[in-house]
Amino acid sequence: MVDQIKQVVINSPLDMHLHFREGRMAQTVIPLSSYSFAGGVVMPNLVPAVNNLKRLTGYIQEIKSIIDKDIFEPYMTVFFKHYSYQELEQLKPYILGVKLYPAGVTTNSEEGVAAINKAETTIKYLEELEIPLMIHGETHGFVLDREKMFLPIFEHLAQTFPRLKIIMEHITTADAVSLLNEYENIYATVTLHHLLITLDDVAGGLLRPHLFCKPIAKRPEDREALVKAAINAHPKLMFGSDSAPHPLDKKEACGCAAGIFTAPIALQALVDLFEQHNALHNLQAFVSDNAQSIYRIIPPQKSVTLERIPDKVPNMYDDVVPMFANQELSWSITQVK
Ligand code: NCD
Ligand code: ZN
Repeated sequence: MVDQIKQVVINSPLDMHLHFREGRMAQTVIPLSSYSFAGGVVMPNLVPAVNNLKRLTGYIQEIKSIIDKDIFEPYMTVFFKHYSYQELEQLKPYILGVKLYPAGVTTNSEEGVAAINKAETTIKYLEELEIPLMIHGETHGFVLDREKMFLPIFEHLAQTFPRLKIIMEHITTADAVSLLNEYENIYATVTLHHLLITLDDVAGGLLRPHLFCKPIAKRPEDREALVKAAINAHPKLMFGSDSAPHPLDKKEACGCAAGIFTAPIALQALVDLFEQHNALHNLQAFVSDNAQSIYRIIPPQKSVTLERIPDKVPNMYDDVVPMFANQELSWSITQVK
């Protein structure tokens, strides 16, 4: 029998899509990411949205004060609106990209874009200024088809703005994986949970509110395609947890908020998944190197060691329930330096 791998070291792990919120929630969740990751892309869907320089710099200050002494680079985004060229020029030094939400498709997206053709002047500026565009790619169609129905919009944008870097955020379908290979300027993030669960886990038995998110988890064949791309470290695919905390009373409610809180367990669960697929040699690329080359960023140096030591996940962090609450993970983070 081959010896089991007992230790994994990841250099500067990056989480390329996550929700830090603000206020008390930010105090709870930010340290959980800033402990184990070297950087992360911070989403702007607050109320009011992060969509101007004043709001952005205020938010950066709040985040940095909570990160405190941890080694963690918050890569910021602003919420897409009709920005002028000058506004974008001013924002550019502070941001990694602009995040576009179609109006009303997910948490706090009401101020999003109602019609993509009306957004194209601003998108042109992004192309000219070389600011990446991150997109929540869902329509208002039937819930399982929303991502697939949005793919022609990605194609249209990729063709119309060939020099624009377009990131399909949190992809959930085999069709989205295929699109990565068709357009040079299209990239994607994928979450942990979409590599692990399907709609069956959410609604196949008793309804599991803590596994409910947008985009909703899809079919087994979609999950298979995502896993295949991730474990092979598809060079255009990056890890982005989409860790999206909501307080317990918003999740266990009639009208459950969308979002899965994975920040504290993401790395441990990724090691487990990659190990099960004999793909640990590709984890470094998936969880850091790909993002570094796609965005041309150099994250702070941070070395994270995980060991095969079982660890029980708390049932709550303040009033937020994490994925795998109360369950045991096979891997623990044992050193960060
Ligand atoms: C996110 C949130 O709660 O902000 N929710 C989610 O289900 N993923 C928003 C988002 O990324 O769609
Ligand atoms: Zn998100």
